[in-house]
Amino acid sequence: MQTINRIDPLRSAVSALRLDGPLALVPTMGALHEGHLSLVREAKRLAAHVAVSIFVNPLQFGAGEDLDAYPRQLARDAAMLEREGVALLWAPSVEVMYPSGFATNISVSGVSEGLCGGSRPGHFDGVATVVSKLFHQVQPDIALFGEKDWQQLAVIRRMARDLDLTQPHADAIFGVPIMREADGLAMSSRNAYLTSDERIQAVTLAIAMRATVAEILGGGEVAVALEKLREALLAGGFRSVDYAELREANSLVALDELGTSSARLLVAAHIGRTRLIDNIAVG
Ligand code: PAJ
Repeated sequence: MQTINRIDPLRSAVSALRLDGPLALVPTMGALHEGHLSLVREAKRLAAHVAVSIFVNPLQFGAGEDLDAYPRQLARDAAMLEREGVALLWAPSVEVMYPSGFATNISVSGVSEGLCGGSRPGHFDGVATVVSKLFHQVQPDIALFGEKDWQQLAVIRRMARDLDLTQPHADAIFGVPIMREADGLAMSSRNAYLTSDERIQAVTLAIAMRATVAEILGGGEVAVALEKLREALLAGGFRSVDYAELREANSLVALDELGTSSARLLVAAHIGRTRLIDNIAVG
């Protein structure tokens, strides 16, 4: 595996790889876990070569968020990726990604509004801007993102469509199902922030969401089921609930009842100082 942190050597390395077969990109912020590795394994299945980027993107963190505390463990991550047969690790510094004078912002409206876009203003501009840069830098044939960040996936697909991207084409952006711990908690780099008591309580999120899905599918009124979900989270040790919403799975249009199209339950809630997100298909 080549680890690269400058643009020029990156260009040469990706040109060489792409001559030899399709290239997949898996963008990450590092502190890798099995969820990230499931993306890498799916990428290996779909493409000849896999590039992984590790970049903790300051643009997508709001004031008072965990940019400084975000776990950084490049050597450990690199060893994990090497074992997975990754060809290229792209790990630019903040100065390489955003040289002084950097002034461009990519803003996707519609799908980025509400949910995490509501509670984290500017977050999806930061995500769209960095992912657009990563796409231009690596020029992958396909790119993979986790369904863990369902709204993020929708934002990136929208951007790729709207900008007529070809490397990758919007249809070559793949979503990979959420990897969960044995008790159901969705894997996340931020789970490392949880104290042992919080870790035990955190499972309430997945359990309560499954109960909400069952209630809605059983004909329960959506607003009532969502209110019960909020109460279950607060009773289960969560400090506050950012949102608990039913949305149309692809357009992310809010739903107050199940329709004919597919629906998704999306939740963000705080436990201690940690914000956890999760989502699940309804039906
Ligand atoms: P990060 O949180 O490191 O996640 C990198 C990728 O791994 C994302 O596509 C995310 O959805 C996926 N992922 C995380 N946990 C997962 C899980 N439990 N199961 C499946 N996939 C999971 O998301 C980002 O970084 C950043 O916003 C990024 C896209 C890299 C832009 O900076």
